[in-house]
Amino acid sequence: MKLVVLRFVVVALACACALVVISNRRTPQASTKADDFAALYSALGMPLPSQAGAQEKPVEQVEKNIKVLNGMPASQIIPVMNYFAASMGRRCNFCHVNNNGQWDYAADTKPEKNTAREMVKLVLEVNKNTFKGEPQVGCYTCHRGRNNPQGVPTLPLALPSPPPGGPGGGAGGGGTPGAQPQGSPTPRPTPIPADDIVNKYIAAIGGQAAIDKIKSRTMKGTIVGANGQTLTYESDQSGPDKAYEMFKTGQGTMERAINGNTGWEKNPQGVHELTGGQFAQIKQQSTLFRNLRLKEQYTRMRVVGRDKVGDRDAIIIIAATPDNQQERLYFDAENGLLLRRMTFLRTMVGVIPQQADFLDYRDVDGVKFPFTVVTAAINVGSPTSTTKLDEIKLNPAVDDSKFKMPAATPPANP
Ligand code: HEC
Ligand code: HEC
Repeated sequence: MKLVVLRFVVVALACACALVVISNRRTPQASTKADDFAALYSALGMPLPSQAGAQEKPVEQVEKNIKVLNGMPASQIIPVMNYFAASMGRRCNFCHVNNNGQWDYAADTKPEKNTAREMVKLVLEVNKNTFKGEPQVGCYTCHRGRNNPQGVPTLPLALPSPPPGGPGGGAGGGGTPGAQPQGSPTPRPTPIPADDIVNKYIAAIGGQAAIDKIKSRTMKGTIVGANGQTLTYESDQSGPDKAYEMFKTGQGTMERAINGNTGWEKNPQGVHELTGGQFAQIKQQSTLFRNLRLKEQYTRMRVVGRDKVGDRDAIIIIAATPDNQQERLYFDAENGLLLRRMTFLRTMVGVIPQQADFLDYRDVDGVKFPFTVVTAAINVGSPTSTTKLDEIKLNPAVDDSKFKMPAATPPANP
């Protein structure tokens, strides 16, 4: 049984070529162990730790041949490259060369890479000059998954959908009897306050009093990537800002933790501190009250409409965090549960979305938690991954030592 699983993982790793090669690029002599871990990071949709140095450096100080993305945080290079590839509907090899299995990302061999540089300049200029520096226009705005964006509308045009109130009910209509009289459009329903939706959610998962009793939580389960890679997963959370996670494959173990304002990560290559964008992202996503105390995470929330999530009707809330990042929350219109949470990484060349869908809510000591979470990310190697939890425990004793950074292999400062 174990052997079969192992072989399955090895095959899966071989498929996750896109990110595997990144570690090759950095350490050409790297062992296969490092490659396995690159695949693991890929499956989790995370940048490799080597991309986030001790300080969040601008990308041009970390990579070899940066001419236009200057000033971008180094941790954004892989998300942005995946966004380029996804915008084109292609993979890394559309712009980069692979010589006998070795990627040379710094080489300017392919004309597409230089075209992409011209495009980056275009995007930076239009956002600076027309949109006050906001990343309103990105590669996807025009490309939409095609290397040659469609610039001319397709004929014939689709017939506009009939207005509410039946055919002819709209402006200039033939006046079907019984249609809405012109000049008195259907009154817009009064918008539902976002607070009501969040309160309904709190009640649906067990109520504020039950949530307030939660001090710690442990979880165990598995994560399966779209490439088939399977990981064992464990998490220990304590209080608002302590979280430990462990990911295990047949090849080894990766651990990481948030401990207040610091964080660390340990894999077979060593231990390093989490910093910059990577620390912020992991802290945001791994701590206990992420989906339990929603209101305190936002400065503004408003209901913007409805949509379907799977076969469920959902009410959408747009929420803004204190650092002005936007999120979208989808709540089940009927039972009030949180169905989907979307976050957006704003970069200078476009906004990169990430999505988590929450399924299979079950009661644990009076509070409902999703036992399945499906994440989707702009990650051409592993577009989705599914976390299935076997066990959630509330308020177990969690030893504080779990969150302490293990001794570094080489001392950080001599
Ligand atoms: C549409 C073209 C395009 C695609 C697709 C693309 N890249 Fe790039 N990549 C670029 C450009 C352009 C640069 C250089 C940016 C600059 O000069 O500021 C670059 C730079 C890089 C660098 C830095 C190289 C160095 O040492 O300077 C890495 C690493 C990289 N890309 C990885 C990837 C990966 C991995 C993928 C696939 C997930 C990918 N790229 C997909 C266009 C692309
Ligand atoms: C304002 C619209 C627009 C934006 C924004 C835009 N592009 Fe383009 N892009 C085009 C058009 C138009 C072409 C030319 C297509 C053709 O020749 O058929 C093109 C061509 C390209 C090509 C060459 C494709 C090929 O087949 O040779 C690449 C690579 C490219 N864009 C990358 C990017 C990247 C990366 C971004 C974001 C940094 C971006 N583009 C943003 C409109 C845009």
